[in-house]
Amino acid sequence: MAALHIAFALAIFTGNAIGVNNGLARTPQMGWNNWNSLGCDVSESLLHDTSKTIVDSGLRDVGYNYVVLDDCWSAGRDEEGFLQEDLDKFPSGMSNVANEIHKKGLLFGMYSSAGEMTCARYAGSLDWEENDAKSFANWGADYLKYDNCYHMGRFGTPKISFDRYKVMWDAINSTGRPMLYSLCNWGEDYTHTWGMSIANSWRMSGDIYDSFSRPDDLCSCTDASNPHCIAPGSHCSVLNIVNKVAAYADRAQPGGWNDLDMLEVGNGGMTDEEYKAHFSLWAALKSPLLMGNDLRDLSASSLTILNNPAVIAVSQDPLGRSVARIRRDLNVAKDKYGVGEIQVWSGALYDGDQVVILLNAAGEDARISASLEEIFLHEGPESSAPQVKEEWEVYDLWANRMDNAIAQKILDAQGEEELSKLFKEANWYNATEMSYKEGLKKKDQRLMGKKIGKIAPGGSLDKKVKRHSVEMYRLKSVGQGGKRYKMHAKEEL
Ligand code: GLA
Repeated sequence: MAALHIAFALAIFTGNAIGVNNGLARTPQMGWNNWNSLGCDVSESLLHDTSKTIVDSGLRDVGYNYVVLDDCWSAGRDEEGFLQEDLDKFPSGMSNVANEIHKKGLLFGMYSSAGEMTCARYAGSLDWEENDAKSFANWGADYLKYDNCYHMGRFGTPKISFDRYKVMWDAINSTGRPMLYSLCNWGEDYTHTWGMSIANSWRMSGDIYDSFSRPDDLCSCTDASNPHCIAPGSHCSVLNIVNKVAAYADRAQPGGWNDLDMLEVGNGGMTDEEYKAHFSLWAALKSPLLMGNDLRDLSASSLTILNNPAVIAVSQDPLGRSVARIRRDLNVAKDKYGVGEIQVWSGALYDGDQVVILLNAAGEDARISASLEEIFLHEGPESSAPQVKEEWEVYDLWANRMDNAIAQKILDAQGEEELSKLFKEANWYNATEMSYKEGLKKKDQRLMGKKIGKIAPGGSLDKKVKRHSVEMYRLKSVGQGGKRYKMHAKEEL
């Protein structure tokens, strides 16, 4: 009886009642996708070389385990109606490509569209779902990114879109092969209200582009829940996407995540600080973390953003809760596009910890302060949260960023022996050996960042934040600490 009760409590808590419940993406998926940097320039050798770099550069072992092939891989359908891989691009055939990826301890993702064609006008899967799910399963795919182009008008209400995407979900399930199901319908028809019933993640915006805050008419909507926002668009900046998701960041949950689109880190359009901000926000908002840069050309500075275990530990936190925006100041200096704002984001983490992001998207450096009352607003308004009366240690999650020189040595290393020596020297966090959950339980220092001070009971965090950057902190209670979430965390784990 007692066991039954516990199971029931756990079911409610861990979200076993959630439709998707395929056991995947209990924390946001991590990996790589070719689209942002390479578009249609896909090939077997690209996937081979990329997988090798993901392993050799240590990225697999900090958690990036899905290699996702985007659009442009197919050569249409055969006479029986099954998709064929383009053998000029993938001469060994897709099964062998998948095998090679699996041999490296990585997982393989594929792409199609819930339309008659994909966005780049290759054969789409609409009305061919069963055949295509079978092909993906037979090839050994572990993940399907499912796009929205050429849907033949089958959209316009949440129910119409839901039904169209559910056909593929059912088809995947009937193959018996576990596949992470990643919706790519750009937030159309309020995906954030139904995505979690059939999918592990759902895009909530038109396509990202490699700019921190530049407005672009192709991405006119800043509020995707506004019914007058007729097109999700493309060319959406980091700031635009963050402003869209703010209203429903809390829809993120273990097994189903708001997808803010693939990362642009390393693609060249933003400064180092902007890329750090982009990465920090994606991690704290619990977006999938899919690297979008060409890894054959990985720089040390990109590697040391992408491999920061203290930030990734926020993304992979077992509590699975997104940060929420608790303040947005628009009355600040503007940049050359007339854009400028300051935001404070905060969210609960495992063991009663709290993550805080101070975002300066204004036109100049600024001091940003956030009181404990604001930071714990969602635990109870107007100072009613018990956390406001506690003392907190502050850990800077970027202070221990790996030195570029060490990262460069890793990128230049030849052979496994040299690499494992360097990983040891660099004190590399290896999530393949010790999951983030385990590391957090053990309070592994690499996941904590660097202690920089304290906040007294009733006090504030007050920092100078450079223009177009973030400061990101983990707060740890000196006393009891976030009692409410400590309790939740126990049940979740
Ligand atoms: C759409 C998607 C992108 C990418 C392309 C491929 O634009 O949103 O992420 O998959 O299609 O054509």
